[in-house]
Amino acid sequence: MKGLDNLMIKEQLNTPFYRIKEKDLLYDISLLKDALSQNWGNAIAGYSVKTNSLPWLLTYLKEQGFYAEVVSETEYDLAIRLGFPQKHIIYNGPIKNRKVFEAVLLAGGYINLDSGYELDWMEELSALYPNRRFKVGVRVNYDIAALCPEETLAAEEGGRFGYCYENGVLETALSRLQRLPNVQAAGLHLHSSTQSRTVQVFGALARMAVRIAKEYRLSLSYIDMGGGYFGGRDDKPDYRDYFREICRELSAFFDPKETTLIAEPGVSLISRATTFETTVLDVKDIRGRNFVVTDGSRTNLNPLVTRHVYPHHIEYVSDTSVRNKIPDQWVCGATCMEYDRLFEIRDDIALIPGDRVIYDTAGGYTMCLSPLFINYFPAVYIEHTDGSLFTARKAWTNEEFLQLNYI
Ligand SMILES: Cc1ncc(COP(=O)(O)O)c(C=O)c1O
Repeated sequence: MKGLDNLMIKEQLNTPFYRIKEKDLLYDISLLKDALSQNWGNAIAGYSVKTNSLPWLLTYLKEQGFYAEVVSETEYDLAIRLGFPQKHIIYNGPIKNRKVFEAVLLAGGYINLDSGYELDWMEELSALYPNRRFKVGVRVNYDIAALCPEETLAAEEGGRFGYCYENGVLETALSRLQRLPNVQAAGLHLHSSTQSRTVQVFGALARMAVRIAKEYRLSLSYIDMGGGYFGGRDDKPDYRDYFREICRELSAFFDPKETTLIAEPGVSLISRATTFETTVLDVKDIRGRNFVVTDGSRTNLNPLVTRHVYPHHIEYVSDTSVRNKIPDQWVCGATCMEYDRLFEIRDDIALIPGDRVIYDTAGGYTMCLSPLFINYFPAVYIEHTDGSLFTARKAWTNEEFLQLNYI
């Protein structure tokens, strides 16, 4: 699994591929670390493995001191194989594996309970290890729509994760833990997905942590604010704004000397650094409409086909001053699905084969979330700070696809 030879920057790479620019990645890593240290000091930066589990990226972030936030046995196994210490695992999610749960608990990693059966496990493990002292967190589910009516929620009916505050299920979960002599309910996990990702919602979440800690008299070792921030966009808030507000609210009740602040961003950490690069292969005139056929696809950028905006720029293969401007062009993808159309260009330079369409802030999630549909995972190249290129993942071929298949 060691890296392939470095490639020269000048080499023309076969599209489509994703590129990660180390310089931009480092910029956002510093932004996060500085925001945590300047506003709270006692903080842990986690990284949401599901967002993008590219082994190169996980290894890079591990070396930058990040913890691995995992939500499945597979992710846990990957993080351990890549060398994350067990103590640096944050185990979240509603579907946990009993063996992984026990291993993380015994190693002193972080576990945020989410489901009913995890309380049963804690009761069993408390009895099984009477001489050990365990700390666990609970994921809080509260009505964000009531807290922040102006937010656009990720799901209209509200979130489905964690223990519900309003109907008393959270209180029951906490009291079940409090009855165990060697277990402390030591953390609150507040991750909440909103589409609007505003600073205000994070302020409200932090206030919620204060309210719950006071109401149930919790002595908290940590507060995990989750992910869900904007990143890599100049027109949106960044980590400095979020953590200024979060810490202002938390400091009304918590002391950084006693309570660690955890963040577990995913896409906000890597958006700025990632691009998806494609080439125009053909231009077709169909009854007066110009379809520009490229070798990348909407499935590589937005597999659920919900987005209609794809920030991009174009690198022209030849002198554009001698090209015509045309009223309308539709840039399309490489699958043979009609919906695989990315964006329309109006009254602009005619594209020709060889031009490159480069999608900016693209691939954060989809580098690993791309479906294996018609084509397999594209390659990923890292552009190091000195300009050299490194192959972090070769494009998948049938060699990979045929693995573990039997005919
Ligand atoms: C528990 C948890 N933490 C962190 C994240 C990362 O979120 P994002 O990629 O929006 O930062 C997610 C994503 O859904 C999540 O569910």
